[in-house]
Amino acid sequence: KNIAVVLAGGVGERVGLGIPKQLIRIAGKPIMVHTLETINDHPRIDEVIVMMHEDSIPELEKVIDRDRLHKLSRTLPGGATRNDTTLRALDAVGADDTKVLFHDAVRPFIDDRIIDDCIDALDDYSAVDTAIVSADTIIRVDADDCIDQMPARAVLRRGQTPQAFRAGTIRAAYAKAAEDPDFAATDDCGVVFNYLPGTPIKVVEGSSENMKVTEAIDIAFADKIFQMRKKGVDADTVDLADLAGKRVVVFGGSYG
Ligand code: CTP
Repeated sequence: KNIAVVLAGGVGERVGLGIPKQLIRIAGKPIMVHTLETINDHPRIDEVIVMMHEDSIPELEKVIDRDRLHKLSRTLPGGATRNDTTLRALDAVGADDTKVLFHDAVRPFIDDRIIDDCIDALDDYSAVDTAIVSADTIIRVDADDCIDQMPARAVLRRGQTPQAFRAGTIRAAYAKAAEDPDFAATDDCGVVFNYLPGTPIKVVEGSSENMKVTEAIDIAFADKIFQMRKKGVDADTVDLADLAGKRVVVFGGSYG
């Protein structure tokens, strides 16, 4: 069985609009409804669970069409941190061999290919991350904000979601983490990496469209991606050779 857990327990402080960013409407629907529709409609996903900030569950119930999202089985309260939210979901994901995909509600451009790759990778691995290469050079700084490491860009990736696991593996990782008084993590692969050392975590290719709405400006980027999609333009495969010498319209401005 394949279960998707959509993480929507955050309040979106950085966007700062006073409502959780996953409820902001883009292209006519709350961001997380776009996310849920793609996941619900994937033929290999059997069940969808949503983790939502307790205060926002009534609002969520108002925007969800249960006939449309027929695989949505439960809306459960999230926790104080993203990891707490995942932990709360672990009781609901069933047998140890279940394939569980955790996905950020605020990444509405997840696509079928990424979901397929995660599910397939779980045949050979018990933990899977989704990531893309980094266009920016990534540096490590010390306490004085001076560079102390410059890892080669070729071996670096930017982590996205879904992060996918056999249920038994992610439960075992969180059980170990619970014994650590200094537990700190920001995602779920990090919990497996640190608390079940030696577990291979396969990385599947994400996409540049699979962005996380984090800051207010990301709402504008996301809106633009929806517009491009409506016109049938795939942001990941824009052929620059095709664009050479033509006028290019980017984000409403016209260049060239
Ligand atoms: N998330 C969650 N439970 C939390 C915190 C975050 O399920 N306690 C979810 C968010 O709803 C989001 C995803 O994890 O879908 C990624 O988190 P992030 O972008 O940090 O969202 P927020 O915590 O809402 O943002 P902020 O840090 O700006 O408040």
